[in-house]
Order: sequence, then C-alpha cells, then structure tokens
Amino acid sequence: MPTILFASSKGGVSKSTSAVVLGTQLATQGATVTMIDADPNHPVATWAKRPGRPETLTVVSDVNERSIIDEIEAAAEQTAFVIVDVEGTASMTVAYAISRADLVIIPVQGSQLDAAEAAKAIKLIHQQEKAFGRRIPYAVLFTRTSAAIQPRTLKHIRAELEGAGVPILRTQMHEREAFRAIFSFGGTVESLRPDQVGGLESAVANARAFTAEVVSLLKTRKVQAEVVA
Ligand SMILES: Nc1ncnc2c1ncn2[C@@H]1O[C@H](COP(=O)(O)OP(=O)(O)OP(=O)(O)O)[C@@H](O)[C@H]1O
Ligand SMILES: [Mg+2]
Repeated sequence: MPTILFASSKGGVSKSTSAVVLGTQLATQGATVTMIDADPNHPVATWAKRPGRPETLTVVSDVNERSIIDEIEAAAEQTAFVIVDVEGTASMTVAYAISRADLVIIPVQGSQLDAAEAAKAIKLIHQQEKAFGRRIPYAVLFTRTSAAIQPRTLKHIRAELEGAGVPILRTQMHEREAFRAIFSFGGTVESLRPDQVGGLESAVANARAFTAEVVSLLKTRKVQAEVVA
C-alpha cells in the first residue's frame, strides 16, 4: 500500500521525527504500518526498542541501497502504509526510495538554506520521474515552526516555493517538546504522560492534523493518478 518517504539532503530538518509521528499516529488509529529505517544511524529502530511502540507498527532496519527497493515492495504488500526514513545526504538509497514512493514529504525548517536543499530534493524527484516514467507526488512540510508566530523569513520562503509551483502541506509540524520526548520515553505522543512532558494536547492535535492531511493527499493523488492512467 502507499509508500511515504521523508527526504531532504539537509540534515536535522525533522525527517525522522515527522516520520515517527506520522507512523505512530496511523498505527494508533488502527492501521498497519511498516517503518523502513534506511539511515545507518538507526533513529527509528532505536525509538522502536523503547517501550510503547504500537502493536500494528513494524520497523525494518539495516536497509541499504542494495535492499531498499525489495524492502519497500515487500512491506507494501503486507501493511496499509509504508513509511521510509533516510539519512540527510544525497545517496543512491534516497534515489531508489524516491523511485518507489507514492508521496515524498520534504521537511523544511524556516531558513533559506533549507529551502535550497528542498529545491535539490525536488530536482532529484523530477529526474526519477523521467527515469522511471511515473509521476511521483511530493510536498514540502514546514517543520519546527512556532505555533504562535510566522516569521517574515518563513513567509518569504513560502511565497518563493508557491511561486515555483511547489505543493506545500497546510499543516506545519510545530516545535514541541512532545515530538522530542517520544525518542526519550518511547511510544507515541498520545501515550506520553503530562508528568513526562507539557503541551501534550497541542502536540496530539498537531500530529492528528498532519496525519489527516497526508491521508487525504494520498487519496487525491491516487484519484489523479487513476485519471491520468
Ligand atoms: N517538531 C519538532 N519539535 C521539536 N523538536 C524537533 C521537532 N522535529 C525535530 N526536532 C528535533 O530536531 C533534531 C533533528 O530532528 P530529526 O532527527 O528528526 O531530523 P532529521 O532530518 O531526521 O535528521 P538527519 O538528517 O540527521 O536524519 C532532533 O534533535 C529532534 O529532536
Ligand atoms: Mg533522521
């Protein structure tokens, strides 16, 4: 079933965090999910070793450029969602993962440098579209943003991306302690306790809104793909 890839050659833009939030949220809602951890540093596999991983969520790790396509194909046959996390560099693993993705999410923090790296990811997606003769939907996700204010730099980057016709997710992943805390305590934002971290309600609402938007985007893209076919 659909494969969602988090990709950006920029390190530290919240690929792994947003991937785990999406995966755990889908699993909390009852879906079966495979998370493919193709980062040699194993951030997702390390999270999964802590208590509280939802039962319907499986993590496959030690995935490299030789095995990534086989792992994605095997997982897509077994679970309702496949989420792939890759390291923050350009590599063959990333290129192969893009070639199999139904949606590539490109996280961007509100800096011009991140936006430049996003442009590189988009270029790579277009190259893979040509190489594999298929459309590969993608969207930028603004991450670690403030829930209260939208700085001018962020508005400027948004305007530039929109001007270039780049799709941007309506939902942003705000800077929230809870999104860091799942990597310390394990589990999901919904299983964290108020004595472990504050601001849980806002984090849960953010995670749900993000997940709902991704699911709805996958549905629309599927319809578009069928119409095109
Ligand atoms: N929404 C968020 N709120 C608070 N902290 C966050 C959020 N997203 C990411 N972080 C923190 O930012 C740092 C980088 O996040 P993360 O590891 O998810 O990025 P990445 O893009 O996967 O990095 P890499 O390229 O190294 O794989 C981590 O310390 C993480 O805890
Ligand atoms: Mg990562």
